[in-house]
Amino acid sequence: MSEILILAFETSCDETCAAVVRGGREVLSDIIYSQTTTHAEYGGVVPEIASRRHIEKINIVTEKALAEAGVTLADLDAVAVTYGPGLAGALIVGVSFAKALAFASDTPLIGVHHIEGHICANYIEHPGLRPPFACLVVSGGHSHIVAVRDYGSYEVLGRTRDDAAGEAYDKVARVLGLGYPGGPAIDATARTGNAQAIHFPRAQVDGSPYDFSFSGLKSAVLNHVNQARMREGDKGTGVLSPINIADMVQVDDVAASFQQAVVDVLAEHTLMAARDHGFDTLALAGGVAANSALRARMDADCAAAGIKLYCPSLNYCTDNAAMIGVAAQHDYVAGRFSGFDLNAVPGLKLGVSRGH
Ligand code: KG4
Ligand code: ZN
Repeated sequence: MSEILILAFETSCDETCAAVVRGGREVLSDIIYSQTTTHAEYGGVVPEIASRRHIEKINIVTEKALAEAGVTLADLDAVAVTYGPGLAGALIVGVSFAKALAFASDTPLIGVHHIEGHICANYIEHPGLRPPFACLVVSGGHSHIVAVRDYGSYEVLGRTRDDAAGEAYDKVARVLGLGYPGGPAIDATARTGNAQAIHFPRAQVDGSPYDFSFSGLKSAVLNHVNQARMREGDKGTGVLSPINIADMVQVDDVAASFQQAVVDVLAEHTLMAARDHGFDTLALAGGVAANSALRARMDADCAAAGIKLYCPSLNYCTDNAAMIGVAAQHDYVAGRFSGFDLNAVPGLKLGVSRGH
């Protein structure tokens, strides 16, 4: 069973990814074609462009993934693909391609939930990690606290009511003229800033102590910049460029203070959920889990609370296909396969126990 070979695809957003995973934890290849520079011109992901890039690149990343792993289609035990949540057109490219390959090579098809993939990224480098544990999944599209009861069995304990954490990073970075994607830019800019300089709100959701809300925080940053603009003017350009923003506000202080507000609520709610539900193990997942301040804070808080913390290395936090192959291994073992009627499901929910 440990030699099961899975070719996996991930095309839910703006990365075209293919990977070969052996035995559920060993990554033989992990190819990522990032479209970031294309979308950066527009300040965010343009769905139609993402789909077109996926269809251009998917054969190339697949050939590379197979060659680097030293395997052929005939060696595969299954083909896995993210079928949701994500951008409809982007998902359809991966799902169609995976179906065609599975059909042509007479190999089982496994549809994988994108968030489950992010959670499973933790298994790649941490052989000791096994359910049950709680996982904070924070990405461009999601902010969830998930109880991982078993492989393939999940319960969402908390979620964002509006923007995802990564979305807030991206929007605030745009306001500050730091470009797209905003997360890494704010992370870097915040390093020289004073996180106590501005007190931005930490929202609580009435009656749902583990839920998040980031839209008020985003508006508070926007108001802060707009007030500075009214005080200082925009030097007549009418356009916020990095240069005139830097004339109006201390960009690194704003970035650090915003980041502090995000990290405070993510860490507090996650530790509260873990404590209340009796978890002694926590994991981080998703693009925002690459954030240096969040990792440092979770490290410190978990150490103080006697909780063991697992984090994927940075390249397994952001989107990749290796995590999809790892998640698919558990479906393979459980005999959960998808039919050739598998469709993209842009709003796919993470349930208590998953079937297709
Ligand atoms: O998981 P991911 O690659 O894609 C989605 O499933 O959404 O996450 C992308 C998100 C983006 O919003 C990006 O700005 C954010 O993760 N991100 C970060 C960092 N690196 C990526 N946010 C904060 N700090 C980072 N270092
Ligand atoms: Zn993702």
